[in-house]
This record gives sequence, structure tokens and C-alpha cells, in this order.
Amino acid sequence: MKALILSGGKGTRLRPLTYTGAKQLVPVANKPILWYGIEGIVAAGITDIGIVISPETGEEVKAVTGNGERFGANITYILQDQPAGLAHAVKISQFFLGDSPFIMYLGDNLIQNQLSPFVEQFKSKQLDALILLRSVENPTAFGVAVVDEQGRVLKLVEKPKIPPSNLALVGVYFFDKSIHSAIASIQPSARGELEITDAIQKLIETEKKVEACSLDGWWLDTGKKDDLLSANQIILDECIKPLNKGETDDKSQIIGRVQIGSGTKLINCSVRGPVVIGENCHLENCFVGPYSSVADEVTIIEAELEHSVILQGSKIINIHPRIVDTLVGRRALLTTSPQRPKAMRFMIGDDSQIELT
Ligand code: G1P
Repeated sequence: MKALILSGGKGTRLRPLTYTGAKQLVPVANKPILWYGIEGIVAAGITDIGIVISPETGEEVKAVTGNGERFGANITYILQDQPAGLAHAVKISQFFLGDSPFIMYLGDNLIQNQLSPFVEQFKSKQLDALILLRSVENPTAFGVAVVDEQGRVLKLVEKPKIPPSNLALVGVYFFDKSIHSAIASIQPSARGELEITDAIQKLIETEKKVEACSLDGWWLDTGKKDDLLSANQIILDECIKPLNKGETDDKSQIIGRVQIGSGTKLINCSVRGPVVIGENCHLENCFVGPYSSVADEVTIIEAELEHSVILQGSKIINIHPRIVDTLVGRRALLTTSPQRPKAMRFMIGDDSQIELT
């Protein structure tokens, strides 16, 4: 079995961060979202992985992720020269997939469930497609499924205006080679894309074996700021073990599960986990509260933050109201004069500078 991870797209819902970087590389608990998908796939015993990239962000994805060695996998990069849909991505990957069954994984999705039970089900029942479903509050934003009492999939619709159910298609799919002829027989949708949802609907119409499983664990589609912060919260909750490779002075207090990278200095700081702080950071006179991820080379002086994600190389200096629910892009500068605003809520892109004076 092979895997195809889709890591193209424009990431419009995470702008401005995605003007300058791939949405799949935005870190959750200081690790690119994309890597969680790769690790999940490798954990299911699949090491032959194709990653579909776009002309805009492909080189960055390649440079950060590499040839797969660090994951024990072999990665082939496949360029999709235009964002023509998920089914189009499969179409241009046929040279890599051949006749092999494969997992298709959307690079901005995170799921809690292990993949191997689904792989087993897919293989043992010799299915043409296995899809994963999860009930959501806003089905109009997703592909939506109608299933009967036995869990058989009757119908799929992409982003319906009037949703026939609240069961959304999760961005992880299992396909046999029959998906290729289904893709060959569909037309672009109203948004001009070849939809994988339409291709699976074609499999259903031609009486192929399509089954659905409902996810019992969490599913995060990290395309938007609040989803990304929830993903960060959940991953920090589940994955962070205390480990201090940095230097903390006597006045600093580290409480709970906190990971601190090497070369990082804490002076008179209070950190309350779960928190991850990267390498070569400088933190002075500050409080870092639960569910915060601070990437490498960040400076935080005279500030308080919690439930926030701070990307590489940013500086937060002299901000007294607590920063909460915030996403700060790379190399951003956030600083104030001594006046004290009552509350602040930010989504700040790479290279931004905000000075409240
Ligand atoms: C895509 C699929 C949709 C699916 C969603 C899951 O949507 O087209 O069916 O429910 O991923 O993340 P998109 O992210 O392209 O809007």
C-alpha cells in the first residue's frame, strides 16, 4: 500500500500566514502539521509516500520535510501546477501510485485515531473505497455523506448549501485502483475543481464497494486560526512530557509539563504547562501559560501569554495585558509603550510589526 499526502492549496483561510508559507508547515506544538500525517502513515506500516506540492510552497515543503529518511519513509514529491482539486491531485499522481491501493491524506488534517485498523478493514473487505466520517456543526463547509442504518454510504455531496446530514468527510481516504477510472469520468465542479467527493459518488453509482467508518477520536482541520489553536491545545495535552534542555535561573518557576529546547534562557519567568518552548529563545520577566507553543529563536520580555502559538524568530516585548488565543507569525514584532490596553486578540502574519503606543 502507498500513501498520497496533499500539501498544495493556497491556504486562504489562514492568511496572512499563508502568504509567506505553506499551511501544512504551520507548527502545532512546534512540529509542522504535515509531519503528524507522515508519522501516522508510517506508524501504519506504509513507507512509500507521495506528497503533492504546489509551485508556490512546494520548495519550502521539500526543504523542511526532506526525502523521508527522518520518518523511516521514502518520499516522492509530485508537483501539481494548478489548484485544480483533490481528484486532480490523484490524477497527476498516477505515475507514482500505479495500480497500488493507497491512503489519501489531506496535509492540513489531524486525526487522533490510528490508521492501521482502517487499513485492516479496507484490505480484509477488499473495498474500493473506505471513507471516514465525523458529525460536525457546520456541514456546509465539507463534503457530506448520507448513510443508511447499516452504515452504507448512499450519497456524497461536496459543500452542499442544504446539507442532507451533519456527517462530514474527514480528509483521510482509502482507495483501490478503481478510483482512477472514477476520476476519469467526472467533470469539474462549480468551483472549477475535480472533486474527490464526486469521484467517490461515482464509485457508489457504479456499485463499487464503498464503506464509511465514523471517527471516535478527535479530528482537526487546521485550516483556520481557532482550529489551529484547538489542535495545539489537544496535541500539547497529549504529547508533552517535561524536559528542560535550557537554562532557567533561580527566580524562574516551571510548573507542570513543560518542554524547553537547548540554548533557551529563562530569567525570572513563570511557565505553567502544558507548554513547549523551542531552541535559542530568550524569555525574561514573563509568564507563559497553558497551551502555548513558542517556536525557536523567540524573544519574550515583560509579557504574559497563554493559549497561543508564537512562530519562529518573533519578539514580544512589554505587552502587559495577557495575550490569549493568539497566533503570531514568523519574525513578527509585538511591542507597546507603557500604556495598558484592556484586552488584545491577534492574528498576525509573518514579518508583521505591531506597535501600540
Ligand atoms: C476538502 C474536501 C471535503 C472534506 C474536507 C476535509 O475540502 O473537498 O470534502 O470534507 O477537505 O478537510 P477543502 O479543504 O478542499 O475545502
